Amino acid sequence: MTTHATSLLLTSVLLAVAAATFPPRLALARDDVPPELQDKSNPIALDKRQVRYFTRQYKGKCARCHGRDGNGTGKEGSDQEFPPANFTDADYMNSRSDGQLFYQIKMGGGERCAMPAFGPDSDHGWSEEKIWQMVSFVRRFSGHFDP
Ligand code: HEC
Repeated sequence: MTTHATSLLLTSVLLAVAAATFPPRLALARDDVPPELQDKSNPIALDKRQVRYFTRQYKGKCARCHGRDGNGTGKEGSDQEFPPANFTDADYMNSRSDGQLFYQIKMGGGERCAMPAFGPDSDHGWSEEKIWQMVSFVRRFSGHFDP
């Protein structure tokens, strides 16, 4: 084998080892969303009164990490190993299904981050309907308003 080929081989082996040891931290949310939720669309829209209600809920329970404007710059967000997503980034948010957002709100961050669970079995005890409504609210940050 020529020296050139050997160093090429060595470089690719090293790169492969590095990739396995330090996986890229691109994912911004749980990666264990169940299949039935993966592509699920949000069945629920918000009326004006509900938008006001969820604005308060968001400020009280989400903004400290996700930022008042949904851009992921809340004070406690930067403490997390996996930073909160930027809800105002339409490209990113379009890549996330409603079901994926629903699942994270229901289950929280689990071992990935300190995001609390809000679902029926959690301390917050939100109904599934309320979680879908919050998904609608979160979508508003990237310009998706209900009809
Ligand atoms: C203690 C900080 C914290 C709080 C409070 C919190 N979150 Fe999160 N949230 C995070 C972090 C960090 C992530 C990304 C973590 C990960 O990669 O799993 C996240 C992820 C999410 C996601 C997934 C986004 C995606 O990329 O698919 C949604 C949706 C979400 N949060 C909604 C909420 C809502 C709604 C509330 C309030 C009801 C809330 N969060 C409260 C820290 C928080």
